[in-house]
Amino acid sequence: MLNRSRRLRTSLAMRNLVAETDLRPRHLIQPHFVQPQAGSTEISSMPGIVNAGVDETVRQVEKDLRKGLASVLLFGVPDEAAKSPDASYCCDHEGVIPQAVRALKKAFGSDLVVMTDVCLCGYTSHGHCGLVDEEGVVQNDETLPLLAEMALRHAEAGADVAAPSDMMDGRVTAIRTLLDQNGFTRTSILSYAIKHAGAFYGPFREAAHSSPKFGDRKTYQMDPRNAREGLRDALLDVEEGADMLMVKPALPNLDLIWRLREAQLAPICAYHVSSEFSSVKAADRLGWVVGDQLMLEHLIAIRRAGADMIVTYAGREAVEKGWIS
Ligand code: PBG
Repeated sequence: MLNRSRRLRTSLAMRNLVAETDLRPRHLIQPHFVQPQAGSTEISSMPGIVNAGVDETVRQVEKDLRKGLASVLLFGVPDEAAKSPDASYCCDHEGVIPQAVRALKKAFGSDLVVMTDVCLCGYTSHGHCGLVDEEGVVQNDETLPLLAEMALRHAEAGADVAAPSDMMDGRVTAIRTLLDQNGFTRTSILSYAIKHAGAFYGPFREAAHSSPKFGDRKTYQMDPRNAREGLRDALLDVEEGADMLMVKPALPNLDLIWRLREAQLAPICAYHVSSEFSSVKAADRLGWVVGDQLMLEHLIAIRRAGADMIVTYAGREAVEKGWIS
């Protein structure tokens, strides 16, 4: 036989030599849920992930950073009492995210990339990602100034990247314009170009207390049956000034990650979302799968499809347990 593919699989060293995909700590972004209270609260559906106060978050980031995890994505988990129909707490200078960003930047400066979620769902009493009118319709244009102001608050606190996940139309323009008007020309935007509606975000909503109180998110998040629509939205986001593009959830969208990669519009970030993480954890607890290995195989598949970076709850484990280095 002239062609024997197995020759290049004979040893680990040989396999490493010809490996096409690299997964390193630098590719991973660790999400953090930040709460106003000190200490930390476990999230039952996300083993190992907690809602943490600002000081606790800084301590955790310090440990992660030593292991090479140099990027974080922050989600605010305000008190129920701070929520309102108009989400006003999202623009509070002393809100939990501005506080966390200031503390992280003070501690780690430019060694850490701080990304912040820009979306109203954790801040509205009704749990939708935008303002809602009397008929319960999520308002697009009325929501934009709030999102822009929220992003500005984060930039003022020192955030490197604003990551709008709300899925309103035109929010990248709104955010870019307000940031620039205020001199924050160097703050980047990581836009959720492709974000599907559906059941993949369940554990996250437990963590962030952000489930919609009525209806669903299908009038603003995308229909998972569509692919071309996602590519179009990605193009629009780039035209509006997005610096990076998010695809979410990750594994159900490897085709879209690949197609966006081919389109060469901007660096691509894939969000390995809560239920992708939690289903591995649950199956591992049942003894049905080897969780650590399966989780790593998830991440490698996402990189192989073309994601430049991955938001994943498994980031810390990956570096702590030595899956990657
Ligand atoms: C906020 C937001 C959500 C996620 C990220 N940003 C929840 C949602 O859209 O309901 C989900 C992330 C995850 O499941 O890990 N809009």
